Amino acid sequence: MFDVEKIRAQFPILARTVYGKPLVYLDSGATAQKPQCVIDTVNRLHCELNANVHRGAHYLSEEMTERYEAARERIARFIGGEKEEVVFTAGATASLNTVAYAWGMSHVGPGDNVVVSEMEHHSNLVPWQMVAQHKGAELRMLPFDDAGRLMTERLPELLDSRTKVVAVTQASNTLGTRPDLRPVIDAAHAVGAVVVVDGCQGVVHGGADVAALGCDFYAFSGHKLYGPTGIGVLWGRRELLEEMPPFLCGGDMVDRVSFERTTYAPVPLKFEAGTANFIGAIGLGEAVRFLEELPLDEVEAHEANLLRAATERLQSIDGLRIYGSTPDKCAIVSFNIEGVHPYDLGMILDKIGIAVRTGQHCAEPVMAHFGVTGMCRASLALYNTEAEIEALGAGIERAVRMLR
Ligand code: ALA
Repeated sequence: MFDVEKIRAQFPILARTVYGKPLVYLDSGATAQKPQCVIDTVNRLHCELNANVHRGAHYLSEEMTERYEAARERIARFIGGEKEEVVFTAGATASLNTVAYAWGMSHVGPGDNVVVSEMEHHSNLVPWQMVAQHKGAELRMLPFDDAGRLMTERLPELLDSRTKVVAVTQASNTLGTRPDLRPVIDAAHAVGAVVVVDGCQGVVHGGADVAALGCDFYAFSGHKLYGPTGIGVLWGRRELLEEMPPFLCGGDMVDRVSFERTTYAPVPLKFEAGTANFIGAIGLGEAVRFLEELPLDEVEAHEANLLRAATERLQSIDGLRIYGSTPDKCAIVSFNIEGVHPYDLGMILDKIGIAVRTGQHCAEPVMAHFGVTGMCRASLALYNTEAEIEALGAGIERAVRMLR
């Protein structure tokens, strides 16, 4: 049975105070806190095993390499992919840039188009904008409506035989929307385009199964999935990864090198130039192990309850508007209060120990859609409680009294 107090006990930071108040951490969409097992794994590796991977014939290097590759295998299973299809990167941004540079630059040409959803995080928009500008291609926007629903009915007018890429999120970091990706992927494949899914929030809230999803590339960050910072994953369909040129070049991604010619290592190493963040990768593997031992359907039910409680509590506050109200949204609530600047609200909440994100959430087109310059965002995780939701509601009411 899922017991939130038992879960909380495994996250040491949740016991701390901020300005003398108990920490209420509602910013897991920006980065999630780490369970003790991940912290211990990373510490122990530094203390007991540190050595570079794929390079030394000595004991430490061989064991570290084995553990690095075992983490790859665990993560591949977790997302329903093959081990050879999992590339370790520095994070989702690095993953998405790898696809844009390596696949995009070699497949998008003048007169082609790239379709990006309006709710993308900048990391799944700006690289495609850059590819389009560089290649003389057109960037097209797949819009969402005022409820935050992706308007997939617009796909037929946006996609054509010159569409090379469709970039879409599995879950919006601002609206919480989990778009129905089936029609997007089917429509993209029908015109021969590849689909690049930003899984950063989606993999955390509900998991991923890339095989069932049928996308072509899938990216996420370790630090949002209760793992260490500086590690991320790019999953790609094997034939696409094999056919793509490398992005970064250097050590470990090569087969043979001479001044005349270089041949590359097989996938996924072709995309892992330089010393990998092997301790981060093993730490992420440990985070996945931690998650796999939880009853994931109960975790989802817990998050759904928190979302319901947060939505109801916040809606009871006079002048508060929530952005994003699709029925299957994940546990992310962005909002504004009439007459109150989100930064001011965030600052007062901070002083009473409540951490929310304020600003544009790296999604300026979402702000533009609603005609606002920023929002407050409470992004919830498996360790949050209904008492924390009540603390947020009471904190907002107090802040509003002060600010008005
Ligand atoms: N992309 C992260 C967020 O949504 C940082 O807050």
